[in-house]
Amino acid sequence: MGITLAWKAIGIFDSGVGGLTVLKEVVKTLPQEDTIYFGDTARFPYGTKSPETVIRYSLEIASFLVKRDIKLLVVACNTASAVSLEALQNELSIPIVGVIEPGARRAVATTRSGKVGVIGTEGTIKSSAYAKAIKRMNQEVEVITRACPMFVPLAEEGWVDNEVARLTARTYLQGLTEEGVDTLVLGCTHYPLLKGVIADVMGNGVKLVDSAEETARAVAEILRNNGLLRPSSEKGNHHYFVTDVPAGFIRIGNRLLGEKLGDVYQVSLDDNRESEEPKGEAE
Ligand code: DGL
Repeated sequence: MGITLAWKAIGIFDSGVGGLTVLKEVVKTLPQEDTIYFGDTARFPYGTKSPETVIRYSLEIASFLVKRDIKLLVVACNTASAVSLEALQNELSIPIVGVIEPGARRAVATTRSGKVGVIGTEGTIKSSAYAKAIKRMNQEVEVITRACPMFVPLAEEGWVDNEVARLTARTYLQGLTEEGVDTLVLGCTHYPLLKGVIADVMGNGVKLVDSAEETARAVAEILRNNGLLRPSSEKGNHHYFVTDVPAGFIRIGNRLLGEKLGDVYQVSLDDNRESEEPKGEAE
């Protein structure tokens, strides 16, 4: 149909709703672009699962999105970025942007003391993906990591600024402040929502690195360098696919984006092997 590559959508996936923090930044940076978001809500969370399982899920989702003819894939989930990027790169011929490299790059550029803290899910921290990426960029930087699994349910519940959130943040993060980190990477889709309490516990001297913002910059740069940007006069459309009933996704997603989500379709990845049609539109 003569459609040029630039007119295709950006595909973004996450284990659930949290990746909307990345989508939000991508849309803010590139409002002219169409996006297709995939939240694997039926199999959420990924942070507690084995790398083998997360890799399999990631490949299934990537195949679903590639069939919808995307021009670039954003792996918004830190856990999936940490363990599946190589497998995805081996399978796909389009550019793939994970959240680890951009976050690591910003952390290295930000630290003055040479001590960087990284927080994320069990899966992300166990993979050492951030530590490896930071060390690749600067051997001298010391990386101190901490898994903070309770932050995910707190963010989903909207408990981001109450006593429970503050106590949880203090319990997880006190060790990091004592270690003297001056930069902290929010290495999970949900953590930007808890920025306020995290910043309070870490204190004024510590800079927070939001992987979502850095990832959006990386996406813009890759599209620009490859001549794949749509004209800036355009306004993008946004579509959402989830694997569980969409009600919870819509409720939390609306709060997360601060606006109403567009159409959310429930799909089954099993059906995707036989047919590309979404199972139905909800609400
Ligand atoms: N999206 C995940 C991440 O950024 C957090 C939620 C989960 O455990 O699936 O690591």
